[in-house]
Amino acid sequence: MSSLRLGVNIDHVATVRNARGGLLPDPVRAAQEAVAAGADGITAHLREDRRHIRDADIASLKALPVPLNLEMAATDEMVGIALHTRPHAACLVPEKREERTTEGGLDIIGGRDHLAPRIATLTEAGIRVSLFVEPDEAVMEAAHALKAPVVELHTGSYCEAAVAGDAERVAHELDRIVRAAAHGAGLGLEIHAGHGLTLDSVGPVAAVPHLRELNIGHALIAEAIFVGLRQAVHDMRAAMDRARR
Ligand code: PXP
Repeated sequence: MSSLRLGVNIDHVATVRNARGGLLPDPVRAAQEAVAAGADGITAHLREDRRHIRDADIASLKALPVPLNLEMAATDEMVGIALHTRPHAACLVPEKREERTTEGGLDIIGGRDHLAPRIATLTEAGIRVSLFVEPDEAVMEAAHALKAPVVELHTGSYCEAAVAGDAERVAHELDRIVRAAAHGAGLGLEIHAGHGLTLDSVGPVAAVPHLRELNIGHALIAEAIFVGLRQAVHDMRAAMDRARR
């Protein structure tokens, strides 16, 4: 099976930094540690309210020698920042001000007219667009029609079922991911996945053959408190590789 890239999301290093309004801990140093431990790329979500990552972080992260995946809402402000910063990839996500984290995937069927020109603008600028979507076959068709090269499947429902220990729901959610990944790959989409994954829940997702990349953040930063970020990334990488054998 082909290898699975690990994108490390360092948003919550910035959350801790912002709690005191100073400079520590530095998300760029966290990104460097993650790369040293085997991350293939860095992911960061620049939110409208800048609650964690800020504009200056994005500029510094872009200067690192690994691909930067900028998670962003499909707004004119964020498209402008992406065109200026030129990350390797832009992952379009739904964003609500009141949410704690990204809830659910993008509505790419209802939102087609809003998304299409923004996807085209980013693509023309050489930025690889991915759409953060629910694992659903009709949604794969819609992503393909929008000419997005990549989709990231939202693993939140699977992870919630795993945390609840609900084996039946875990199997159901995993099956949705497997079917969506196969369908999307069949259409020529590159398939990524992420949200809520932990060391305990990553294995079955990492084993899905059509997946090319996982983006993981919160659980890694949480684990880093106890074992350090290098060890946390190393352990996640190892769990992904084991699942892939
Ligand atoms: N992928 C996307 C598109 C996300 O929005 C997030 C959360 O910022 C993640 C992956 C990572 O999720 P988590 O922090 O729960 O691992």
